[in-house]
Formats: sequence, C-alpha cells, structure tokens
Amino acid sequence: MRPFVFINSAMSADGKISTVARKQVRISGKEDLQRVDALKARADAVMVGVGTVLADDPKLTIKSDMLKRERVDQGRTENPLRIVVDSNARTPVTAAILGPNALIAVAQQAPRHRVEELDKKAEILVVGESKVDLAALLASLKDRGIDSVLVEGGATLNFALLSLGLVDEVCTYVGNILIGGSTAPTLVDGDGLISNFISLKLKEIRQVGEGILIRWAVLGQGP
Ligand SMILES: NC(=O)c1ccc[n+]([C@@H]2O[C@H](COP(=O)([O-])OP(=O)(O)OC[C@H]3O[C@@H](n4cnc5c(N)ncnc54)[C@H](OP(=O)(O)O)[C@@H]3O)[C@@H](O)[C@H]2O)c1
Repeated sequence: MRPFVFINSAMSADGKISTVARKQVRISGKEDLQRVDALKARADAVMVGVGTVLADDPKLTIKSDMLKRERVDQGRTENPLRIVVDSNARTPVTAAILGPNALIAVAQQAPRHRVEELDKKAEILVVGESKVDLAALLASLKDRGIDSVLVEGGATLNFALLSLGLVDEVCTYVGNILIGGSTAPTLVDGDGLISNFISLKLKEIRQVGEGILIRWAVLGQGP
C-alpha cells in the first residue's frame, strides 16, 4: 500500500524545468503559483529530491495564510510533511526546508556525522541500503497516515518514481518561454527509457494565465 502520488512541475514550452545552470527559473505566473499553493494545501506531504534542495533551497510551505488556517481548522498540521529524498544526507544544515514537520529520507550508508547533524533539525528516516528505497519510503508514509504525496521534482526523482510505477498523476504547467540547452533538466530525466514507455491518459487541459495546464493519469509501462 502506498499514498496517491502526483507530480506537479512547471516547464518551458520546450520542456525544460530549469536552465543549463540548474537554478530555479520563473516559468509560471501568479495564477499558477496560487494553483500550486492550493495543491500543496490539499496534500498530506510534499516531496523533492536532494538535487532540488541543493539547486533551489525551497521551503515547500504553504504561502496563503487562509489555506494554512483551513488546514488547522480541519485538525491538520499547518503545512504538509516536507520530505527530502537524500540517500547520502547531503541536505545542508542551513536548508530552508528544515524545521518542524520536515523529514529527510536517507540510506543506511549515509555518513553518520551528516545524519546526526540533520537529526537536530528534522526527522530522519533510514530506508534503503545505498540509495533511498522509494517504494519502501512510500509504504512507510502510508503506514503513518499519509494518503497523498505531491512531488515537486526534480527531473531525476521524477524519473525514478515514474519508472518504478509509483506515480498516479502528472500535472505540468507549460509556460510561455523557451529555455533550450541540451543539458537543461526536463520534466523526466534519469536514464530514460528506450522501450516500454510510460503511457498517460489525458485528464484535463486548460489555459492558466499565459500558459497551459495539462493533467495526465499515469497508466504504466507498456509492453
Ligand atoms: N520547474 C519546476 O517545477 C522544478 C521543480 C523542481 C526542481 N526543478 C529543477 O530541477 C533541477 C533539480 O533536479 P535534479 O534532477 O538535479 O535533482 P532531484 O531530482 O531533485 O534530486 C535527485 C537526487 O535525489 C537523490 N535520490 C535519492 N534516492 C533516489 C532514488 N531512489 N532515485 C533517484 N534519486 C534519488 C539522488 O541523490 P543521492 O544519490 O545523493 O541521494 C539524486 O541525485 C534543478 O535545476 C531545479 O531547479 C524544477
């Protein structure tokens, strides 16, 4: 058993989620940022890979005071559980994501001193030997009552989760810019597939601001 897992990402019209410098870039506008804030407010947990923490230092908290109040009124925590998938405990101790209700998933081989430092600022979950075992991580989240996980990238984590069949939905905001660059990250990087591609079913398409929102259900890998 695992939670409902959905990826949300903003990409340029040429499919890039960042630049060759791998630093955060503003792809969507105010309307889409509000949509993402609402998605976050509905989720039990928000997850990113350590690559995104190192590149962007996101906080992953809800911006809107009203949405935070609504969660508290429902008896939930003000913010969803914020999770970093970080086999080697590379999350900097100064990372904005650290603090109450943050969880760092590490592997058994993570350097002990790094884990001890992070343990002072977040909950540590050891899951997997040399790399975080994503299926086991999700199963453990489900066991503690997490029913929905919003994955906010990046490209490597997206691929890992999708190729393991651990994603239910992919939502992409396609913004009205072109970024280019053959090494700029795309929605799904990793090793890629050369056959048995992952099939999607279109659920929704609509204009948001100057871009397009596309929501796909993930059907799984084909024959
Ligand atoms: N436009 C958007 O919506 C958006 C959103 C997020 C990020 N981004 C961009 O995406 C880029 C970052 O993406 P990224 O691909 O470099 O990093 P990432 O996907 O955020 O993190 C990848 C890292 O996760 C760790 N990891 C732990 N367990 C794993 C597993 N089982 N499988 C795969 N990875 C695992 C790996 O490091 P260890 O082996 O050390 O654990 C891996 O290098 C940045 O440029 C950022 O700006 C864009």
